[in-house]
Amino acid sequence: MNILVVGSGGREHAIIMKLAESEKVDKLYCTPGNGGISRYAECFDVGATDIEGVVALAKKLAPDMVVVAPDDPLVLGMVDALQAEGFRTFGPKKNAAIIEGSKVFSKELMKKYGIPTAGYEVFSDSESAVKYIKEQNTYPTVIKADGLALGKGVILAQNEEEAVSAVKSMIDDRQFGESSSTVVIEEYLTGPEVSVLSFTDGKTVVPMISSMDHKRAYDNDEGLNTGGMGTVAPNPYYTEAVAKECMEKIFLPTINAMNAEGRTFEGCLYFGLMITPKGPMVIEYNCRFGDPETQVVLPMLDGDLAEIFEAIYEHRLSEVPIKWKSGYCTCVVMASGGYPVKYEKGLEINGLDEKGQVENAFVYHAGTKFKDGTFTTNGGRVLGVTCNALTLQGALDKSYDAVKKITWKDEHHRKDIGARALKALNNDPLDLEYKQDMEDYIEENGVYLRQ
Ligand code: AMP
Ligand code: GLY
Repeated sequence: MNILVVGSGGREHAIIMKLAESEKVDKLYCTPGNGGISRYAECFDVGATDIEGVVALAKKLAPDMVVVAPDDPLVLGMVDALQAEGFRTFGPKKNAAIIEGSKVFSKELMKKYGIPTAGYEVFSDSESAVKYIKEQNTYPTVIKADGLALGKGVILAQNEEEAVSAVKSMIDDRQFGESSSTVVIEEYLTGPEVSVLSFTDGKTVVPMISSMDHKRAYDNDEGLNTGGMGTVAPNPYYTEAVAKECMEKIFLPTINAMNAEGRTFEGCLYFGLMITPKGPMVIEYNCRFGDPETQVVLPMLDGDLAEIFEAIYEHRLSEVPIKWKSGYCTCVVMASGGYPVKYEKGLEINGLDEKGQVENAFVYHAGTKFKDGTFTTNGGRVLGVTCNALTLQGALDKSYDAVKKITWKDEHHRKDIGARALKALNNDPLDLEYKQDMEDYIEENGVYLRQ
């Protein structure tokens, strides 16, 4: 098979490296790709949201499959456009990608089908939203833009002032354009977060190994939300009991709900979960692989990704063996100083070999360029340094050792990736903060719903 992957980040690099392991795969193409990806796949300069451009490129390359990895082209209908021209694809069609493309859609879906999630209300005018905020008078409260907002459309407002200002900028000032003309105001939930990516063809759903993202820019979860500063897999909070409950109450009901709505989901459905004292709840759905979750999940896959993609396209996922390696995988993101706000590009990266790699780790490139034998920075998140080992501590030590070998001006990474997961493992499996939340809930309600 020759496969074209659409996208340009660490996630796409991870997809390409896993596809490269498959005996079925001959040639890998990526558009637009990045410096690191270009060392393993032929890259083109068609942008990831340029639907006509990607269709034209596919006509030129005639690949056996096109994998659409990022959210925007999926929500815009790139898979539909490719299928209309007869291409085999991986990724949901537009009418299913709406599960990420509209928070209002996903919240209404969960309400209609009884899938556990935070309580919410929807507003399209700021006056009623402000009135509701004042009536509720409960903080923190969560304000979410309905549509895609580059991962920045969620505000956790600590008080009335912040909440009112968030709805006004979103609805009145169109902070995220039409994406924020409607907002969801949501109950604030507590508990550890778990990312579960799943393969599904609409008939079968196969959860991948769980993972934990670290979204804030700085150590101890301080600073702004980012696309993700590091990940570990598996996530120690995702115990077998939790997994069972998620399958029964969340994963299967979601697949069934999408089918019942005539919006069968085919591709990777990402469940962003919070393990609250009342049990696991959905924080968000993504219609694609997560970034940087993919960088720790796919290396743990003991299976053939090209075969899985093909089987999903042919609706026979249940026939494919999918297993997971034991041990842990960790990814530390190295970012440009100033990310996620303002940062320089074009800085020379030291320490990488001609493939963009260092010893004893795999370096997934997120934002790099490669020219005349040199890698330079070309984005906020630049590299994802990934290792696996039998223990979480072992994998983290390897990742951080490898990080030390790579430098550039103003490079920034978190020093505490995996710290909470380690603490959780040592507390088997609930850390103290979580225990306190549970105890508060039990005191208030007299019950604890989940073993
Ligand atoms: P999202 O962009 O939807 O992933 O949201 C960003 C982050 O906001 C999540 O990873 C959570 O940490 C937090 N978040 C979103 N919704 C809620 C909620 N209802 N309660 C508490 N935290 C939330
Ligand atoms: N890491 C979160 C996401 O991909 O949305």
